[in-house]
Amino acid sequence: MAKLTKLDDIVSLCKRRGFIFQSSEIYGGLASCYDYGPLGSELKRNVRNAWWKSVVQMRDDIVGLDCSIFMHPLVWKASGHADKFADIVTVCKKCNVRSRVDHLTDAPNKMAEGLAGKVCPSCGAVGQFTEPMPFRLMFETQMGANTDDAMTIFLRPETAQGIFVNFRNVLDSTRVKIPFGIAQIGKSFRNEVTTKAFIFRTREFEQAEIEFFCAPGTDEKWYEHWKDARFNWYINLGMKKENLRLRQHDKDELAHYAKGCVDVEYKFPFGSGDWQELEGIANRTDFDLRQHQRGMRTLNSWYEKKGDLSKIELNSESEDYQKGPLSYFDEEGKQRFIPYVIEPSAGIDRSCLAFLVDAYDEDEVNGEVRNVLRFHPALAPVKAAIFPLVKKDGMPEIATNLYNDLKKYFNCFYDEKSAVGRRYRRQDEAGTPYCITIDGQTKEDNTVTVRERDSMVQERINLSQVKSYLREKLDI
Ligand code: GAP
Repeated sequence: MAKLTKLDDIVSLCKRRGFIFQSSEIYGGLASCYDYGPLGSELKRNVRNAWWKSVVQMRDDIVGLDCSIFMHPLVWKASGHADKFADIVTVCKKCNVRSRVDHLTDAPNKMAEGLAGKVCPSCGAVGQFTEPMPFRLMFETQMGANTDDAMTIFLRPETAQGIFVNFRNVLDSTRVKIPFGIAQIGKSFRNEVTTKAFIFRTREFEQAEIEFFCAPGTDEKWYEHWKDARFNWYINLGMKKENLRLRQHDKDELAHYAKGCVDVEYKFPFGSGDWQELEGIANRTDFDLRQHQRGMRTLNSWYEKKGDLSKIELNSESEDYQKGPLSYFDEEGKQRFIPYVIEPSAGIDRSCLAFLVDAYDEDEVNGEVRNVLRFHPALAPVKAAIFPLVKKDGMPEIATNLYNDLKKYFNCFYDEKSAVGRRYRRQDEAGTPYCITIDGQTKEDNTVTVRERDSMVQERINLSQVKSYLREKLDI
């Protein structure tokens, strides 16, 4: 029976079974940084692959890209991140801890309005806050070995800009025609003021983003298309519909580049059980390509000001910007324009957390609690486990041969230790959809038992049919 799980149960299972560990744990850990263990790295790779398969492999209108994390600093001036990508924060005068103004809650019996009635989440003091101020979220670092030519660069806070600055390269090197998209998966970094709930909000994370370029005027149609397509991606990977919803942003929530935005939200089991953002789908209009055309016109000033972004103003847009270097020529309509962009932007880590939470279940077997991860087969870290019932009578040899054959096609696991019931439980907890057991009967009639994780139903099939059986059941 499904139940709303606590995040603590998931965190504990993740550590116990090698899904996710605290980073640098032997040194006491590094806040908000996590490492994916043997099972977790398989899960994460499966989430990435499922995304890539659905948006690049299965579609004829999207191509892939893999950009560097370090980019020219002017990219972030043009995109607006250097000046505007900041949270509004306040500092508690009692404990010196910085908080996001939009995350502060009211004191129960608040007497005053505004910050005067707000509680410090760190020390509990009421109304001890400084005036709100912006706090830049981009990490800075130095590039270059010599002090003379070293320059300050940023760790990208989104993968999207790498796509915009390669728009021309992709147009010139492929046969794509509008409407088309460019997809990328990669790490992004934000010096978040408050990190949250395990891998939900961290300072280093992975994004999976599509910039879908279309003709102005067709953007609303593509926005609708992507809302449905991305919502259904989660459903098709087994996520329960009742835990997912779409939420339209209010005008005052919109990022500086967006005309409209909708979030795919998941009912995460933390906080007050609130809905939280899983993915954003934004209509970025022609903002970014136009801004990068301005950025390209500002390069001289960047050299003159020795790369000091605070002293650089972006050059204004040329009057015929629609014919600029990042424009697109539409052969059919015989016109040039700057494309509009619809951006579905997902988080790989956040998706992993949602898939873990959604798959986690406890049921009762023979009076004992069974922990089970009911992953969709495409996401399950291990697809099949192979067991000899006992470590004798030729069973390990048959099981090893089967394992060596199957592992060429699926990620498999061989286990001959402890009672078979315990081995089943371990695989249930890892989310393995099928366990195959070689027993005394196998030598007599060449059959094995296949046990399915969710129903725990066992059936006997011929040893020679195991591969095709798994292929069909796993649909991979
Ligand atoms: N290019 C648009 C963009 O970056 P966003 O809403 O800031 O939009 C998109 O981020 C997605 O990236 C989020 O829905 C979330 O899944 C993921 N994400 C953003 N910040 C994150 C963080 N600090 N930790 C984990 N995932 C994050």
